[in-house]
Amino acid sequence: MCGIVGYVGTNNAVPYLLEGLSKLEYRGYDSAGIAVNVNQQLQIFKAKGRLKNLETILDTSLSSVVGIGHTRWATHGAPSDVNAHPHANESQTIAVIHNGIIENYMEIKEWLTHDKHVSFKSETDSEVIAHLIDYYYEGDLLDAVYKAVDRMEGAYAIGVIAKDEPNRLVAVRKDSPLIVGLGENENFIASDIPALLKYTRNMLLIENDEFVDLTKDEVKIYNSLKQPVKRDIYEVTWDIDSAEKEGFEHFTLKEIFEQPKGVKETILRRLNAKDEIVLEGVHLTKEILEGINKVYIVACGTAYHAGLVGRRAIEQFAKIPVECDVASEFRYRDPFVDEHTLFIAVSQSGETLDTLQSLREAKRKGARVLSIVNVVGSSVARESDDLLYTWAGPEIGVASTKAYTTQLTAFYLLALFMGQLNGKLSDARYHEVIKELKLMPEKIERVLAKSPEIQKLAASQFNNEKVFFMGRGIDCDLAYEGSLKLKEISYINSFAIAAGELKHGTIALIEDDTFIVALASQSNLYDKMVSNIKEVKARGAHVFAIAKEGSEQLEKTADEVFYVPNTMDELVSILAVIPTQLLAYYVSALRGNDVDKPRNLAKSVTVE
Ligand code: F6R
Repeated sequence: MCGIVGYVGTNNAVPYLLEGLSKLEYRGYDSAGIAVNVNQQLQIFKAKGRLKNLETILDTSLSSVVGIGHTRWATHGAPSDVNAHPHANESQTIAVIHNGIIENYMEIKEWLTHDKHVSFKSETDSEVIAHLIDYYYEGDLLDAVYKAVDRMEGAYAIGVIAKDEPNRLVAVRKDSPLIVGLGENENFIASDIPALLKYTRNMLLIENDEFVDLTKDEVKIYNSLKQPVKRDIYEVTWDIDSAEKEGFEHFTLKEIFEQPKGVKETILRRLNAKDEIVLEGVHLTKEILEGINKVYIVACGTAYHAGLVGRRAIEQFAKIPVECDVASEFRYRDPFVDEHTLFIAVSQSGETLDTLQSLREAKRKGARVLSIVNVVGSSVARESDDLLYTWAGPEIGVASTKAYTTQLTAFYLLALFMGQLNGKLSDARYHEVIKELKLMPEKIERVLAKSPEIQKLAASQFNNEKVFFMGRGIDCDLAYEGSLKLKEISYINSFAIAAGELKHGTIALIEDDTFIVALASQSNLYDKMVSNIKEVKARGAHVFAIAKEGSEQLEKTADEVFYVPNTMDELVSILAVIPTQLLAYYVSALRGNDVDKPRNLAKSVTVE
């Protein structure tokens, strides 16, 4: 989704804005632009396409001590120069960048057009913001932004500069991410930490309905009533290198290889010397858990797929019934949720609008809300009663990889924790699982060491347009995730199915050389999977099986077998998903796709 940056200081803002925007590219965008104030004249440059298109139209002598920049992911109006941000009022005295959606923009636009005779240039909802601020502007930018925001409904993170206030930057947030970076003689705004990490580690996390007034020397935060707000500085501890490629060709590949570290961090930060799970942000007690009769896991995309595995873990270890739903469905179906429900939101970004709105809906209905989130201080994190961070580090590639395996890890910890708390899990079983969980980082390393096997397979299949993923039990959940990964970065129309469902229709599609990824990691379902593999082989399919070491008999049935280290059936998901991630990556790279920024996709989906 859109990314915003802003700078006010003593240096030339332009390189800061461009560098910041380049670090936000991962969010997904189709046009970019900046606005600066040169000798009390606002100058705006915008270009459809990648940042380099913007760079080519910039005047190299351009210099200004204040500026705003934007990467746009089109919602209202096609990707084009004119629809790109920043937007300005007619006399170009106010320039605005916006991430989010102004829901009542039509009403405001009509009022401005008919009553105030304002003419609009773009098809965007965002342009109304510039005209509204202009309408209210009487020499104090913050004041005008307050008045404009009062008329706006929807979600927004907005940055504004004014021609007549060349040393001031004003920002406001509601339901779209916004952070402030604190520098020396300079201050910044951005949608996300990586945009600013090169310049500062000291951040202020801006909350909903807060306004920020920035000059080079000062940052003031106000609430919606214009009362000053105090905010502690959040010091970013992870390194700038985490947001760089470090020699990998793509962020996606780097992030796949970072999984041992992410999983290790997620586990080890939660275990004390006696191997007891200590979940700092989770305040569940035995009494609270006794009052819970149902768990609802809600998320989108890959996070939802992690939820499917999480459901099995909670049912298995804590013996509490669990439902799992995609957020865009949950929100609109008046689900049975009450004060006896534990609602679990899963989100890498913590800003996915459907997930956030589902969380709010569950809260309204009285549920206790626990979230599994990667981005510290994000909206989902802030609005939850209990919070379990995945320590994956920043995920830049649009396709979620390390976020997924750390979400699985967090679910295992949570399920074990709940099982101990409600007495449904014996100590012996608990320690057996924990012992195995601690081995996961090293076992992931062993899977990754075999990536050349997947590279070779990808080289033989990357042009195959008929791809199916199938599995049973946890493997079925992984099949959905493997197929999504392949679709989103390779653009191959792949399909995932519960292997037992094949015979009920889909097998009609299997023909010579259909490429089947068959996940066969579950001991109790192994024989059933072998039968399913035989069925598709008999119809000409090419089968790539993923199984645990010790399943060598599969070699008689499948064309290729990838072995993951032996582990418990319950935990194998963390290992078995990795070959599917690698497959999607290598196929995408071989097809010449933009792996880290696949078409039409955004990293953080802050619109419905
Ligand atoms: C797929 C992918 C998406 C996200 C989904 C939810 O690789 O990244 O399906 O998982 O958009 O995003 P978060 O986890 O940020 O809520």
